[in-house]
Amino acid sequence: MGCDYNPEQWPERVWAQDVVLMREAGITFATVGVFAWALLEPEQGRFEFGWLDRAMDLLAEGGIAVNLATATASPPPWLSRRYPQTLPVDREGRTLWPGGRQAWCPSSPVFRERAMSLVEAMATRYAEHPALAMWHVSNELGCHNGRCYCDVSAAAFQTWLRARYGDLDTLNEVWATSFWSQRYGDWAQILPPRLAPTHPNPTQSLDFARFSSDALLEYYLAERDLLRRITPDVPVTTNFMTLAHFSMLDYWRFAPEQDVISTDHYLVHIDQPTENAVRSELAFSGDLTRSLAGGGPWFLMEHSTSAVNWQPVNRAKAPGELLRTSLGHVARGADAVGYFQWRAGRAGAEKFHSGLVPHAGTDTKVWREVVQLGGILRRSTDLAGTRVHSQVGLLFDWPSRWACDLDSHPSSLVRAMDAPLALHGALWRQAVTVDPVAPTADLSAYRLLVVPTLYLVEDAAAATLHEYVAAGGHVVITYFSGIVDQNDHIRLGGYPGAFRDLLGIRTEEFFPLDSGQVVTVQPAASGPGTEAAWTRSTWTGSLWTELTHLDGATAVARYVDGPLPGQPALTRHAHGRGVAWYLGTALDDAALSTVLGRVCRDAGVQPVASVPAGVEVVRRSGDGRSFLFVLNHTPEPVRVEAHGHDLVTDTPVTGAVRIAAGGCAIIREGLVSTGSGGAGQG
Ligand code: GLA
Repeated sequence: MGCDYNPEQWPERVWAQDVVLMREAGITFATVGVFAWALLEPEQGRFEFGWLDRAMDLLAEGGIAVNLATATASPPPWLSRRYPQTLPVDREGRTLWPGGRQAWCPSSPVFRERAMSLVEAMATRYAEHPALAMWHVSNELGCHNGRCYCDVSAAAFQTWLRARYGDLDTLNEVWATSFWSQRYGDWAQILPPRLAPTHPNPTQSLDFARFSSDALLEYYLAERDLLRRITPDVPVTTNFMTLAHFSMLDYWRFAPEQDVISTDHYLVHIDQPTENAVRSELAFSGDLTRSLAGGGPWFLMEHSTSAVNWQPVNRAKAPGELLRTSLGHVARGADAVGYFQWRAGRAGAEKFHSGLVPHAGTDTKVWREVVQLGGILRRSTDLAGTRVHSQVGLLFDWPSRWACDLDSHPSSLVRAMDAPLALHGALWRQAVTVDPVAPTADLSAYRLLVVPTLYLVEDAAAATLHEYVAAGGHVVITYFSGIVDQNDHIRLGGYPGAFRDLLGIRTEEFFPLDSGQVVTVQPAASGPGTEAAWTRSTWTGSLWTELTHLDGATAVARYVDGPLPGQPALTRHAHGRGVAWYLGTALDDAALSTVLGRVCRDAGVQPVASVPAGVEVVRRSGDGRSFLFVLNHTPEPVRVEAHGHDLVTDTPVTGAVRIAAGGCAIIREGLVSTGSGGAGQG
């Protein structure tokens, strides 16, 4: 367990007390120096490491490992003043000035040079320091500067495009520049998709998103390679943001370049219909991060003990929620949990952000829960290295996400993350764990694949999915999938072009629904895929409908009203030895759970355990060890069948565990402890 620690924001006299309290809480690592550039290099080439030396020494004496930031996340004022060409520019041509943070252009050679000079000085200075355990490159790359539209970025974009397309004829073809008089005769004419009189070229926008992600990847690699040269034995990470609302970087491309996969996660309450949606988003993030880590353990670098400061209303965590959210990440594969930040700040833009030590001190709910978590994690060290094993994969891809969220589409209400979260959420409610996977990944380990709004699909990915189903796999594909190729060109001949044969359907026209418009969906009384009980329930669809013809598939449910009464809404098609389902509308949560429950049974997918509604369960196992995480999100106590030892309460469990409202358990399965305090006893 650890935290961001910013000793430079506090008088030195409190540092010794910090370390004492950290030990009391069970803190074993601290992320130091993230925003310290201006103090470490007060003017170009003059370094002041004294204060950091003293902080690092104190932490080392306290046995606290340091995840040392390279401090390049936010340039000091002297840099921006001396090199104004390093400042980022937004789509509307506005310069993003210093005074906040991360005011740097990812493609700036001058910024890169100054940053590398600091990284080299840091790495040289602390290479042998006993506290140094890991390097933390920059911070949340792309959080505020993920897209820069300045002239320096324009030139870098042109270079990137030359490397991708080789010649202008190819680029003109791919960008379809015969449309609206956009044909380019010289590379220098090409710009980032800056504010234009009307819709910019979509392929230009998509390529700019790819380029911008690559620019930060290249930046990361420059820091990483320099660190590896100076400290070859120290692992390097940069903290991802695998929250559903952040989309700037293609983390499938970043992940193989990291020594340790780390991420930050905060509960986002903006636009969330229910508390359950907030919780299942956390589960999605954890699952995605685990997939980025290749199924292995990962590092939760930051989350919060309670409220943040950057949402319109910053909700404090209820009693017990700190524990439940932290263990929610551990359940999904985190082997380390870190918080932003140690002490809640007393000044600056984040002064109302929670910390481990609140403004009110240690006689607080937050501090008591932090200490409680520390104790639980100390008892749970043999969790380390165990894995979550999923039977379901969810195809997830950043370029598809970027392309889906561009403008000029049939409905701007369709957002790329809606269907992934809805389908993942429906499986989460049924205690089925899911691995988000890259579309070109090896899919053979999964019994079921869900493909939610995968708007853009490359040929290779479409072929992989066809082979998967032909070989006996089951798949559920939803609306607005398989529509375009990697260049954002429509796959002609009827939608969903990439998956027509696989699904045995052909859609001729989309009929998106207005905001708030709902259609009734009626399951068929009989036939493959349907169930008699379904006919007694009413399903509703929203957001989307489409005029779909059956071309080998069976209609499992049809629209009753709306623009397409009588037309198929849900279809099922036997393809090769497998089965392919198509869902043409956004079903309500209950109906989606019903359908996915049926699909899971067909595919032989088992829930982790049978639990009451509102209770989350995940299992981590490996090397003969097995741990069942049970998170009770309901306001009532629940009983769950289990046998072993509960690491949360440190008590044996024989037959069933009772979990208080909002509480949680980690059952080390199979072993029954005979006494307290006995991690591993049995
Ligand atoms: C991010 C940053 C931190 C802090 C938190 C606040 O995760 O990395 O520096 O700003 O957000 O939630």
